[in-house]
Amino acid sequence: MNKSSRAPAAKFRRGRLSDLDALLAFERDFFGPDHQISRRSFRRFIVSPNCTLIVAESGGQVAGCALVLYRQGSKLARLYTIAIATAFQRRGHARRLLAAAEASARRRGCRAMRLEVREDDAGAIALYETSGFRLFGRRSRYYDGRIDALRFEKPLVDKSRRRPA
Ligand SMILES: CC(C)(COP(=O)(O)OP(=O)(O)OC[C@H]1O[C@@H](n2cnc3c(N)ncnc32)[C@H](O)[C@@H]1OP(=O)(O)O)[C@@H](O)C(=O)NCCC(=O)NCCS
Repeated sequence: MNKSSRAPAAKFRRGRLSDLDALLAFERDFFGPDHQISRRSFRRFIVSPNCTLIVAESGGQVAGCALVLYRQGSKLARLYTIAIATAFQRRGHARRLLAAAEASARRRGCRAMRLEVREDDAGAIALYETSGFRLFGRRSRYYDGRIDALRFEKPLVDKSRRRPA
């Protein structure tokens, strides 16, 4: 049996205002009381036309989320965050959520996706490297004034235009 057939199905959908409590609880689980994204910010991310918040839902629970930001006049999408709740990790959810985020950026006509990741986040770096992202830069002491950020980019090929081999 392969890994994805063992995993409980997750469905991926746009975040809704009714997800706010679950998203905040999820964020607090990861970052504690000093959580990074406030209710107000989550609300903005859900309603703003300049971003796409995708929720992974499994068994009626918010199992994870990904947030993609867009800038007017730019063909670059920025993956601002992607996270899977601890109880749902290592089941392939992040890889599929990332693919959903890429598909969403492609539909908006973006030509590439960029992201920053802590240089000590080996799991996330492995996820990005095995999903086609390539390292192109570094931001010194980007996190807490201490930890460098690695900058990754992936070209977003329009699959409908790809020629058969
Ligand atoms: C990084 C994270 C999103 C991965 O979620 P996940 O659902 O467990 O990941 P998947 O099961 O889809 O794994 C996909 C690949 O990522 C890599 N990976 C994920 N977690 C890993 C870990 N703990 N150690 C090593 N590699 C890991 C592997 O290459 C894995 O492929 P494999 O299982 O075939 O080896 C999750 O650990 C998380 O939410 N971490 C905290 C938040 C975070 O760091 N977000 C990224 C920066 S914003």
